[in-house]
Amino acid sequence: MKNIAATLEAQLDNLSLCQLRGIAAVAEVHGARTYLAGGAVRDALLGLQVSDVDIAVVGMTSELPIGVAQALNGRVVARSQFNTFSLIASGRHIDLTMARCETYAHSGALPTVLPGTIRQDLARRDFTINAMAVSLSTGSFGELIDLLNCQSDLKTGMVRVLHDDSFKDDATRILRAARYAVRLGFTLEAHTEHLLRGAVSYLDTISPARLRDEFMRVLQEGRAVSILEMLQCLGALRSIHPALALSPQTSDALRRAAQSDYAEMPALFLSILTYSMTESEKANLVERLQLNSRLRQTVQSTGLARSLVQDDRSGGDVRRSEIYRRLKGLDEAAILGCALSEGDSVMAQRLMLYLNELRHITPALKGTDLLALGVPQGPEVGALLDDLLEARLDGKIETRQDEISFVRAQCNLPASKETCRTS
Ligand code: CTP
Repeated sequence: MKNIAATLEAQLDNLSLCQLRGIAAVAEVHGARTYLAGGAVRDALLGLQVSDVDIAVVGMTSELPIGVAQALNGRVVARSQFNTFSLIASGRHIDLTMARCETYAHSGALPTVLPGTIRQDLARRDFTINAMAVSLSTGSFGELIDLLNCQSDLKTGMVRVLHDDSFKDDATRILRAARYAVRLGFTLEAHTEHLLRGAVSYLDTISPARLRDEFMRVLQEGRAVSILEMLQCLGALRSIHPALALSPQTSDALRRAAQSDYAEMPALFLSILTYSMTESEKANLVERLQLNSRLRQTVQSTGLARSLVQDDRSGGDVRRSEIYRRLKGLDEAAILGCALSEGDSVMAQRLMLYLNELRHITPALKGTDLLALGVPQGPEVGALLDDLLEARLDGKIETRQDEISFVRAQCNLPASKETCRTS
């Protein structure tokens, strides 16, 4: 059997290697065997750096994850269905999963799961490139288990399913196939592509939460736009939601977004993807993907920012304070998404003016300064601050002294008081 211990040593750092050996030792005490499985093996064999690890445990017990967490000075952070435990130790995320065999009662159903051998566990997986394991046990550390000649697909760069019902059993694999193909620069094997195209309608069988999680993983990828384009070519994008469509303008806007260094790329992409949708299409998408409140806000604000753009299509002069007033409080990703969707139009320039300049403008004087100037306490203070901001935004005043003069003129205040109380 091929041993890839040296490859693991090259692609994992010392901390991960120590953790893997520690996990194997604890498992042995519990009479279990452990295997590094899935993406970590794929990436190690491709010469990519491996950080988070996924470990298949043959002979899982309920005490084992706790024992592992103690040995690694970590903690179990989640236990999900099918005896899968998520641990955090020294900042690393480790998944311990019971090796299992699966059957699906119907498409999209969660699988019926039974404890299984490592062979059964590999056979249930999505693609050959993810269906290899490496033994972590003492005495066989590094032994590669490749029952289906998966290495050959890794070498030739193929994304290939393990059996013909794979996409029907679990249609999230449609998104995963495109994600791996683009990320790794691989090709969809011809029969796999044929099966995928025939299974896109099975995306309907996937629960909103699972679909959202896989869709978000697409949006988080470095080459998300190419993945979306591939999903569109395969007929899968509109099966996620009928209104999800990439026009050439949408693709351009997404690419411009991808080139920016915006911190919340998934929110920005969502804004662009929903820019041309009707309100009811957006509401349906939000439901279909059960978006969290943060992303719902982006989608809703995109509608508001867009309506502002449409109101002003005349391109006539609009005061800077008016632009500010309309956009104030709207989600940043939504405004940027609208600007990118608008190309080089006057409206895009206004949206960018707000993001780059207007929203950062504040009056130099605070409420306490106004009171010190002699403005009576009460609603007038707030109204004056609003007036000051408006005058600043519109370039009518520029300095603190301008603001003092502005307030003095508005309230008929004596010059001496303001000068001595605010200097
Ligand atoms: N898996 C599967 N079918 C799915 C999801 C996952 O068979 N629908 C299997 C694959 O073998 C995969 C493993 O579970 O390798 C772990 O899943 P995940 O963490 O989602 O993927 P990774 O392989 O770690 O890939 P990535 O680099 O995208 O995280």
